[in-house]
Amino acid sequence: MKAHHRSRTAESAAAMRAVHLAVMAPPHIFRDPYAHLFTSPGWRLICRNRLVFIIDTRIIYRGMLPILFQILARARFAEDQLDKAIASGIDQYIIVGAGLDSFAFRRKDLAEKVRVFELDHPASQASKKRRLKKLGLELPKNLEFVSIDFEVQGLKDALMESSYACGRPGFFSWLGSLHYITESSVFRTLGAIAEVAYPGSELVLDYAVTEDHAASDEERAMFKKLQRFTARRGEPLLSLFDPQTFPEQVCELGFELIQNISPRVQTEMYLSGRKDYHSIMPSSYFAHFRKTS
Ligand SMILES: C[S@@+](CC[C@H](N)C(=O)[O-])C[C@H]1O[C@@H](n2cnc3c(N)ncnc32)[C@H](O)[C@@H]1O
Repeated sequence: MKAHHRSRTAESAAAMRAVHLAVMAPPHIFRDPYAHLFTSPGWRLICRNRLVFIIDTRIIYRGMLPILFQILARARFAEDQLDKAIASGIDQYIIVGAGLDSFAFRRKDLAEKVRVFELDHPASQASKKRRLKKLGLELPKNLEFVSIDFEVQGLKDALMESSYACGRPGFFSWLGSLHYITESSVFRTLGAIAEVAYPGSELVLDYAVTEDHAASDEERAMFKKLQRFTARRGEPLLSLFDPQTFPEQVCELGFELIQNISPRVQTEMYLSGRKDYHSIMPSSYFAHFRKTS
């Protein structure tokens, strides 16, 4: 990510969530009614017009649908696990690389139950705050912003500036972000999460795998498309992992693996029965961990 620029992939992710709700037929995998407020005027136009969406996805952004479904599925997966964690008593939600996530605005029903910490790059976070101000949205009282550049700062120091409590479990999500950070910063940040996470804390993330995990020429072409999509937005893919060894490396930091979900299983979980599309971007796994004692 360029040092002084807000994340354009965060804007694309919000746009996909907005488009899904506005112009795609139900059932909706993930409902984010705030997403369209956070997107650019161009994306808002697509949200208002199904025909423009069809032209866009069939002609201009061909191949975008697998990425769109990956973005929706990872958000759904994370928040399904989060709901269970909150029901079991976890009262801190730490959204690492939050981008234009709207959880604190969407889930006002949980305002008394969970404190939300949005961690993000200073440029992205400043841009989000400006947007919220322009929209006149009142900041939920249970929301705190923590600005951090993972390439140069430690997560522990940044989080300790907030009211985050190390002595209680928390739920950490880190979605759509590992890809854009150098491998050393990914592991340094995961190590810091392990340090601040009380035993029983949970972590959900998605990670991209190397191209040799593509099962066909069609999938290889999709991997390349994703690389071009993110590079064009100034955020090239920097870290790709192996789906066998990556979870083991995370566990070595002090976690146990609960689930490591392949794109094929994601497709079964979230797309079966859909008429508009049948497969999720084949390059990303979802993983769910619990902090051990
Ligand atoms: C694709 S967005 C994902 C946003 C959100 N989690 C979602 O799923 O919509 C990637 C996020 O990673 C953040 N990011 C990228 N590089 C970063 C860095 N060096 N330090 C902190 N955040 C970074 C960006 O600011 C952006 O919010």
